[in-house]
Amino acid sequence: MSLSKLYQEITAFYPGTELVFGDGDAKASLLLIGEAPGRDEVEQKKPFVGKAGKNLNEFLDVLGLRREQIYITNVCKFRPFKVSAKGTVSNRPPTKQEVLQAQDFLHREIGEIAPRMIVTLGNTPLRAVRNDPAATIGAWHGRPEKVMVNARQYHLFALYHPASIIYNPSLKEVYRGDLCALAKWLQKES
Ligand code: URA
Repeated sequence: MSLSKLYQEITAFYPGTELVFGDGDAKASLLLIGEAPGRDEVEQKKPFVGKAGKNLNEFLDVLGLRREQIYITNVCKFRPFKVSAKGTVSNRPPTKQEVLQAQDFLHREIGEIAPRMIVTLGNTPLRAVRNDPAATIGAWHGRPEKVMVNARQYHLFALYHPASIIYNPSLKEVYRGDLCALAKWLQKES
């Protein structure tokens, strides 16, 4: 099974839905996993663009990497959204059911990329990668862990989702500290 065949399978699973697949170097040693695309991502058919792309740039700057050197994907390949009474469309977190449905595809995607290191942003990808809906980012962030996905071992480094810093500015320093710890770990390992 190749990555493009897997993406074809996902497309068939969500008929009529606009999807955003992974982007970057499919042979990269670092795989970055976010939660789900937003409006900008659906428009550009690329993960982490627009506002989220700015957060990604900080991530890449600290690690001394370029976007093309890593692979970037999301747990959900579709945009979870809600519509207000006034008709305004906005993002919402994916439901547990939606994450569970996406999880098997994500695990197979991880197997296709076969990275040395998986970096997750926030609770949703942490839970999906670990197959543990009770895992919390507060307990797991900021240090490398070993994780098994489809009988293969990977290093996992969990970060807070940069968007969560907007709602909780006190996390900014924690996020920066975690990023520096990740940079040091990557330097040591390479
Ligand atoms: N954009 C993405 O592609 N993923 C996120 O998790 C957030 C913004």
